[in-house]
Amino acid sequence: MRGGPDGRGTARASHVPRCGPTVGEVDITHANLAEVRTMGGPAPSRRTLLRAALAGAATIAAGCAGDPRPGPRTTAVPGDPSQDGTQQSEETTEMTADPTASVLLVYFSRAGENYHEGGRRDLEVGNTAVLAGMISDRVDCDVYEIEAADPYPEAYDPTVERNVREQESDARPAIAGDLPDVAGYDVVLLGSPVWNVRAPMIMSTFVEGVDLRGKSVLPFVTYAVSGMAGIDDDYRDALPDSDVGAGLAVRGETVADAGAELEDWLTAAGLLDEREADE
Ligand SMILES: Cc1cc2nc3c(=O)[nH]c(=O)nc-3n(C[C@H](O)[C@H](O)[C@H](O)COP(=O)(O)O)c2cc1C
Repeated sequence: MRGGPDGRGTARASHVPRCGPTVGEVDITHANLAEVRTMGGPAPSRRTLLRAALAGAATIAAGCAGDPRPGPRTTAVPGDPSQDGTQQSEETTEMTADPTASVLLVYFSRAGENYHEGGRRDLEVGNTAVLAGMISDRVDCDVYEIEAADPYPEAYDPTVERNVREQESDARPAIAGDLPDVAGYDVVLLGSPVWNVRAPMIMSTFVEGVDLRGKSVLPFVTYAVSGMAGIDDDYRDALPDSDVGAGLAVRGETVADAGAELEDWLTAAGLLDEREADE
């Protein structure tokens, strides 16, 4: 591991898991959407439905409520077989491979009961944590895991309810411990699940709590049906002085199979050269 700036990131690098469950594809239909509503999220607002219609397929996911944000969202459609559960946002940022770039990988993930193939499964390791582990296996980086000062419930439904409350009140849930010193990093990889068609509000706590100006920020998410859900654009809005690059969205259920797409993304971002990806 590269010696980066001091802080929790370095100390936590060894906590990143390296593997996760492998499961198959799922067909996302309006039947799923109906189920989604019974899973704890409020019925989608008119705007959410409009957005789903514009996307041409179900863009609404487990625990979704209305998405208050306007603007173009991801073009990839969850459930489209051509997407293979993984998508990179259309926005591309030309980045040249820079082997000397100092990289910080930041992620939030929640183990416990979660959505899984239309049902529920207890995850020992959260999907985003699995993806973070796959990244840190491939890229020389320091790792910082965002942990909530008030941890989210193990159970799915109360987590959905708390998240809806936090979204509706535009909350900034406190992060446990100190934030990392990001000053010495050139590139910050920023990962989370999709919660109610957005990043969990604790990601806002993070991006507002550290100074990411002048840095390259690369978002990645895991999701059930929503894909990137415009989260990359949300970071662009929140971080006008950062260079927010193309994001990566991986279906949570297939995260362990996403190595090839992950390597394509990391290569396009200049964090992995093609020889390393082939090894
Ligand atoms: C509170 C909550 C809300 C969710 N909302 C969505 C959603 O809107 N769209 C979606 O595709 N998946 C949604 N999911 C599913 C997660 O995004 C998905 O399972 C993800 O891989 C979980 O990552 P994690 O295990 O790292 O937390 C939600 C899950 C939870 C717990």
